[in-house]
Parts: sequence; C-alpha cells; structure tokens
Amino acid sequence: MNFDNQAQAYDQRVGFTGETISAIRDFLFSLKPEARVLEIGAGTGFVGIELAEKAASYTGLDASEGMLSVFRERAAERGLKPTLVQADADKDWGIPGSSCDLIFGSRVFHLLEPEHLSSEILRVADQGAILASGNVLRPKDSVHHGLRRILHQLLREEGYEPKKKKESLSKVFSSVSDGGNYTSKVVSEWTRPFVPADAIASWEHKHGLAGNDLPEDLHNAIVVRVKEKATAEFGDLTKAMELREFYQIDFITIIKP
Ligand SMILES: C[S@@+](CC[C@H](N)C(=O)[O-])C[C@H]1O[C@@H](n2cnc3c(N)ncnc32)[C@H](O)[C@@H]1O
Repeated sequence: MNFDNQAQAYDQRVGFTGETISAIRDFLFSLKPEARVLEIGAGTGFVGIELAEKAASYTGLDASEGMLSVFRERAAERGLKPTLVQADADKDWGIPGSSCDLIFGSRVFHLLEPEHLSSEILRVADQGAILASGNVLRPKDSVHHGLRRILHQLLREEGYEPKKKKESLSKVFSSVSDGGNYTSKVVSEWTRPFVPADAIASWEHKHGLAGNDLPEDLHNAIVVRVKEKATAEFGDLTKAMELREFYQIDFITIIKP
C-alpha cells in the first residue's frame, strides 16, 4: 500500500491528540529508558518526533518518501535531526546489526511479511531489546467492529480468508522471543464521532479488502453488499455515532538465538 498521496492530510485524518502521543512516548521509555530507538513505518513522525527528542538515538524507517518528507519538515521545525531511512521493510532494512534497544511500530506490523519482519528484528536488536507494537482497538460490540465482521463474512463466502492483524502479530512476537508471550497495555483511550457510511466509502477506493487483492468487480460488489447488510443490521449508516477507541501497546523482550 502506498501512503505517498495520504501524507499531507494524514495527521489530521488519524487525529491522535497530544495527550495520546505523550502517553505512547512515556510508556515506551518506561520500558526502555535511554533507548536507541528504531521505528518501522514511522510515517509523518507524529509519534516519532517525540521519541527522537528523548531517545539516545532515533531512526525512523518508512517506504513512503511523501510521509518521510512531512516528518523531515516537522523535525526541522523542532531543530531535530532524526535519521530517516526510506526503505521497504519487506526487504533489507539497511540498519546495522545489534544496534537497537527498542523496535517500535505503530499500526504497521500487520502490513508486513511476518517471517522477514521477525528475522530483521532479531538481526538489528541488541541483547535485551524490546519489541513494541501499537494499535488502535475498538469494542467488540461497536458498529465499527460490526462492519468488519460483515466484511469478513462476505469475503469468506467468496473463498477469501480475511487477514487477521492479531494472528500475524502473535507469530512475530513468538518468533523473536523463543515462543514467549507478549504483554499488552492500553496507554490511552478516547471517544470520537464515527459515521459508518464514511468508513464503508473509504473501502471503495482502498487497495484490497482485509489484506486480500480482489478483482475490481468483486471488490465493488462486496462493498455494496456490506452497505446493504449493515443497513439491515444497524439502520441509517449516515448518522454520526460515538466510537470508543483504545491505543494498546503489545510488547516483549527479544531473545536473540
Ligand atoms: C497505517 S500507517 C501508520 C503510520 C504511523 N506509524 C501511525 O501510527 O499513524 C503505515 C505506515 O507504514 C508505512 N509502510 C507500509 N508498508 C511499508 C513497508 N513495506 N515498508 C516500510 N514502510 C511501510 C507506510 O508508508 C505508512 O507510513
């Protein structure tokens, strides 16, 4: 997925508050003070800039030059010079071995190939390094969740298996820690307005659905069917509702073989 064309409007769309960003930063440094930080999928740097300010060193890696150029502007405004690397994380990261104490990704690891991700993490991590993955979660009984459930059911009916974020992440955590279990912590929560029709509309132009590349006709047909089924279940989809969201960080100490 290419984020170049989202870069300028990205921060506004994601809409994390300063409070959430500080909570993420403070929690990560409570795990590993004075860390040499590597952030994968650093994007526009709205979290990364805070990490760069406090870290012993900070490197942000992202495939999108558009996202990184917003990060560079942000860093220049703050008088900081983080190392920013434009690279595809599914290929060689170009980061020296055993050079990181904290490897962090916010809403990104599920987009990457789990085996390559695990092997690069093991290579760049120093002894005792932490792997941390941040994600936004929503309650299981929310309409947001309901739309995903309907989408996944329709994909399965068409013979496609929806990609589950949690499963691919568990695989990575397990392989970098010799099968160990990770710990989870909600560091911030908030409520925001949510319009189901807008969420469905964003799927119309999205590349792929739940990690599956579909023929265009089928993609469009599934989006239409999600709309129909969701209307039958939830009523008027154009009405804004309150959506509770949580930022959770899953983390583990990496065990190098
Ligand atoms: C959903 S955004 C998350 C950005 C930011 N970390 C956040 O929490 O909002 C995913 C980011 O990962 C980057 N990305 C996606 N696939 C990538 C890949 N294969 N290699 C490197 N970066 C990638 C995108 O360019 C984008 O900046």
